Amino acid sequence: VRPRRLEVKTEATRYPVLIGAGVSAELPRLLAEKMGLTGVFLVTDTNVDSLHGDRVMAMLRSAGLPARKLVVPAGERSKSAEQLLRLWRAMVEDGCDRGACVVALGGGVVGDLAGFAAASVLRGIDSIQVPTSLLAMVDASVGGKTGIDLPEGKNLVGAFHQPRAVVMDLDFLATLPERELRSGWAEVIKAAAIRDEGLFRRIEAERVDLLARAPERLAEAIEASVRIKAAVVGADEKESGLRRILNFGHTLAHGLEAVSGYVDLLHGEAVAVGMVFAGELGERLGVTPAGVADRLRALTESFGLPSKSPGGASIGDLLRAMGRDKKRGPGGIHWVILERIGSAVVTDEVPEPVLVSELERFLGETGRASP
Ligand SMILES: NC(=O)c1ccc[n+]([C@@H]2O[C@H](COP(=O)([O-])OP(=O)(O)OC[C@H]3O[C@@H](n4cnc5c(N)ncnc54)[C@H](O)[C@@H]3O)[C@@H](O)[C@H]2O)c1
Ligand SMILES: [Zn+2]
Repeated sequence: VRPRRLEVKTEATRYPVLIGAGVSAELPRLLAEKMGLTGVFLVTDTNVDSLHGDRVMAMLRSAGLPARKLVVPAGERSKSAEQLLRLWRAMVEDGCDRGACVVALGGGVVGDLAGFAAASVLRGIDSIQVPTSLLAMVDASVGGKTGIDLPEGKNLVGAFHQPRAVVMDLDFLATLPERELRSGWAEVIKAAAIRDEGLFRRIEAERVDLLARAPERLAEAIEASVRIKAAVVGADEKESGLRRILNFGHTLAHGLEAVSGYVDLLHGEAVAVGMVFAGELGERLGVTPAGVADRLRALTESFGLPSKSPGGASIGDLLRAMGRDKKRGPGGIHWVILERIGSAVVTDEVPEPVLVSELERFLGETGRASP
């Protein structure tokens, strides 16, 4: 696979994104570029550690880098204040100073947690993101959002902290469980749906190769979605406007995830359901042309992703959960609607009766109608 190098530019900084098979071999060089590097904290989770931790540590150590490994339990529960505190204390006990650098090796959970630890310890040290899940590559690792969850909800505490570099080694994907891979594809489909009809058509045409993890096709699709994310983030780092279109499919997804207690659905699965619903809502509002929702449904289903709610969520619960979400506007819940495949708008002006009747229809097909 041809290695690729993109650049993310924000107002304050710019950083490279490397994509390719074996590009994690660049890590020692990227770390050595940091002037006065005093320590490297490799943060990973138990799953990724058992598969890749030793190799990455050996690579850092053999380059003479003072590396220390910090492992958190795999799973969303580790995006917690408890694990954050553990990381802070382990780093400080180990003599962490402003010259240290965090390397986040893992999925979005590790990326968000380790990124936030780097953003906050000693008021902020450098970090490098090394995403190992497809979702973390195409979404979580780029853009600088870091943070943890609270019992009250997901991602409620955090900071914007852009990494020094993002290293996407496609070799890691070989060990990613199938269901996690499919969940990642939902975010690629999302990126295409909001910004790039050509990519959407390529995903439709190449889905067999893509699901078989054909390296060159995979690299192309990851590059294309990272470009979309980088362009959107570059134009709106702190999510005051444009960046909100990245939440296409996420309004209902966050509601479904919250109502289900984050156990039944992977994030990408919830996003897949949410995209189909947002397509139907957009058609009902007369913004999205007829047929777009069907196209979204067909594509998500062909990636083995759900297009319907698993059921069990009442409309009242969903509306409450979506209303609590921090992605809401002054007028109400915030929706990203497609004007066509490849172009999205944000609105907080979906009349409540329209929303309720669309939700009833959508959930009625599978789930339980409102009590
Ligand atoms: N910061 C952002 O902009 C942003 C964007 C999207 C999502 N997120 C966050 O990302 C998280 C979801 O990320 P995720 O889907 O990567 O979840 P995750 O980090 O929990 O990873 C999913 C599972 O795959 C395992 N795994 C990861 N890489 C592997 C590999 N190469 N081989 C084998 N197993 C591997 C993990 O151990 C875990 O069990 C959520 O917390 C979400 O809020 C953040
Ligand atoms: Zn998402």
